[in-house]
Amino acid sequence: MKIAIIGQGYVGLTISTFAAEHFEVVGFDSNQKIVDNLNLGISHIEGVQSSKLQNLIKSGNYKATTKGSDIQGSEIVVIAVPTPLTHDRKPDLSYIDSACKTIGESISEPILVINESTSFPGTLRNFIKPAIEKYTSSQVEHLYAISPERVDPGRDDFNQKNTPRLYSGLTSEATAKTREFYSKFCDNLVEVTSAEVAEAAKLFENTFRQVNIALVNEFAQIAHSLGISVYETLDAANTKPYGFMKFTPSAGVGGHCIPVDPTYLAAVAEEHGAPATFIRRANEVNLDMSEYIVRRVVEDNGGSLQGKAVLVVGVAYKPNVADVRETAAELVIQHLRSQGAVVSWHDEVVGNWKGESSAPLHGADIAVVVTKHDSVDEKKILASAPYVFDTTGKVKGAKGL
Ligand SMILES: NC(=O)c1ccc[n+]([C@@H]2O[C@H](COP(=O)([O-])OP(=O)(O)OC[C@H]3O[C@@H](n4cnc5c(N)ncnc54)[C@H](O)[C@@H]3O)[C@@H](O)[C@H]2O)c1
Repeated sequence: MKIAIIGQGYVGLTISTFAAEHFEVVGFDSNQKIVDNLNLGISHIEGVQSSKLQNLIKSGNYKATTKGSDIQGSEIVVIAVPTPLTHDRKPDLSYIDSACKTIGESISEPILVINESTSFPGTLRNFIKPAIEKYTSSQVEHLYAISPERVDPGRDDFNQKNTPRLYSGLTSEATAKTREFYSKFCDNLVEVTSAEVAEAAKLFENTFRQVNIALVNEFAQIAHSLGISVYETLDAANTKPYGFMKFTPSAGVGGHCIPVDPTYLAAVAEEHGAPATFIRRANEVNLDMSEYIVRRVVEDNGGSLQGKAVLVVGVAYKPNVADVRETAAELVIQHLRSQGAVVSWHDEVVGNWKGESSAPLHGADIAVVVTKHDSVDEKKILASAPYVFDTTGKVKGAKGL
């Protein structure tokens, strides 16, 4: 059976390599460079080994393409394209629309369309289905299902196989076919009664994280004002065996999911006249953390950063990945620069970012640790500047939250 997967990023490439162990997979992506590299067996995603990709290419079970005609003959098409926010922080479904156009214009036989991109409840039924129908010239009736992706890039303990997967179709036939597809490479499938429940569950999972991260970030500020250790307090609370889940403070939230998905939920809530005050406030608290951190650094350094060489250590949005989307480091750097600091950054996992390269890990007046990759030596961080402020709680002996 031939499967097409639209979007070959974190989600699409990961699912492609699992599916290609059982099916012939065509990975469609609009980015020619990504496609060229994938066809050379070069993976651009942590967690997808180039050697695995090369084996799949050799076996004839995987190829990447930018040509819509190459997805013809697929029985299942999976959508895994970005769902970011627009400039005015509204859901941006333009990538999904463009994926629907590719499907509508390329596929003329009935197929199963599965959406794995994260979006608000109703997207499959009220946006994807009508969009594909709009772009299809023949009167073909496709099946539609949702199975929101839960992959956590860089994580080894949970993957496509052992992470429970939610799914639901718009019809019972779509649901059954979706189950059959994922059961080939996923051990735990959880059927829900509607596409909207699956879509909402995905948004709620990430909103739960966003709100709890905001709560612990606010608590870090309270603990500091009380002169007690936030980390010791959290460890103490965490000895309770039930009813508590430990989150740790940070410079804010980053990546494609936590800063974005809750806003999708808030947008749909407000459209239906329901409150989303918690979600909006959590977003503000997380965004304000960068300013709070810079304020603390200013206070500790005689009230001014003017002309000081400040090194931001770790600009990826989380440890051990090169992903800088929505990284809190960006706001931290912005606030440091607005205080007159001369800012450079060190992150060899990221390497290059915004036209700048990773600076050496030494010789600064001040170091601010935003993300601590496992490969970066704690002692080297401490030696990089006479004053080190750590937002991660991982650099013992540094100042911090
Ligand atoms: N990254 C994660 O950890 C994660 C986890 C769960 C869910 N998701 C969701 O999955 C979806 C995809 O996220 P991602 O992280 O894989 O994004 P990504 O940016 O890593 O990859 C998306 C890919 O889609 C391609 N693309 C964009 N528009 C296209 C189009 N019209 N046709 C074909 N290709 C197109 C891009 O070139 C890119 O390679 C999003 O909705 C995201 O919220 C992401």
